[in-house]
Amino acid sequence: MNDLKRLYTAYQADIETAALAAMRSGWWLNGGCAKSFCASFARACGASECIPVANGTDALEIALRAVATARSPAGREVITVANAGGYTTVACRQSQLVPVYADVEERSQLLAIESAVAALSDQTLAIVATHLYGGVVDVPVLRRMLREAGYGHVAIVEDCAQAHGARSGDAPVGSLGDIAAFSFYPTKNLGAMGDAGAIVTSDAVLADIVRKLRQYGWSAKYHVDLGGGRNSRMDEVQAAILQTMLPRLGALNAERARIRSRLSEAAGDSLEFVDGGPGAVVHLAVVRSPTRDALRRFLVERGVESEIHYPVLDCDQLGWEHLPMRIAPGGLPIARRSVGEILTLPCFPGMTKHELTALCTALEEWRQ
Ligand SMILES: Cc1ncc(COP(=O)(O)O)c(C=O)c1O
Repeated sequence: MNDLKRLYTAYQADIETAALAAMRSGWWLNGGCAKSFCASFARACGASECIPVANGTDALEIALRAVATARSPAGREVITVANAGGYTTVACRQSQLVPVYADVEERSQLLAIESAVAALSDQTLAIVATHLYGGVVDVPVLRRMLREAGYGHVAIVEDCAQAHGARSGDAPVGSLGDIAAFSFYPTKNLGAMGDAGAIVTSDAVLADIVRKLRQYGWSAKYHVDLGGGRNSRMDEVQAAILQTMLPRLGALNAERARIRSRLSEAAGDSLEFVDGGPGAVVHLAVVRSPTRDALRRFLVERGVESEIHYPVLDCDQLGWEHLPMRIAPGGLPIARRSVGEILTLPCFPGMTKHELTALCTALEEWRQ
């Protein structure tokens, strides 16, 4: 499904120069590389603040804790989707917040805004808008509908882990909500060579709280003025690598988009590709098929791997079975049907002509 070594090989000289300089600096945490990467990344996101953290799940957790600290200590519910791999639910569990699952849109598999609005209560703290597979949740419409429903105070947290470089109109993801979480896990559109994450916001109050929460709750060295703090850092080598790769993000996204459109041409109308809407990037090439399992076997027989992102809805995970959660009124009919129909096809930068041709040929055969 991916071969990260190819990406490394393509940019090896620049990556090694940057990583070596970071190692030789003798300053491996909280140094200049993370600062300059964050300044560049904030600019790229059209936001004023970017705070480095250790991974995307920490970013979600700390963003939610910051919102809880700043906005509404009483509200304990977080509305989100159940089909996005469970990361927001993990962040909620870590922060004693209760996930409330809304349904998704059929075509995009993104949060269905009407379902989210129907799930609002006086306990709602935030909505996590996950830009899944590179698609973009219509955050301006979500914001408008929250206001119209009398919930303008509810924070919108964007989960941008799968959507680096995506936009809504002219605005990049990361600048649409109140605060945003990014992962730079190696397979992401902008990936490190280990774990890394970031929180992006233009709200100075939230940024200040995040800075404290990700460093033990410190206001100054060894002085804690905020409970609920912990340690979450991006190391300097990862920051140096990310700084090297950031200018390549556009080209890498274009390569994923080219591959996805070849796949879509090959499949014709035999498969429906999940479509993240205008401004989307391609993170994963996901199709929906009522005969998904047969398609998967057909591909295996032709030497093509596939994956399911994600096979179990958060609300159905055994480990969370007895923990508090809520489902939006109206239930999750689309998420429930889709979980048995989705299939992710290989689509990654560095995919060879041979691999792409083999996959396209298999899709053309499936179509007949
Ligand atoms: C949508 C989404 N959110 C959050 C995360 C968590 O990121 P990390 O693996 O860096 O903790 C991931 C990926 O792993 C993700 O795909």
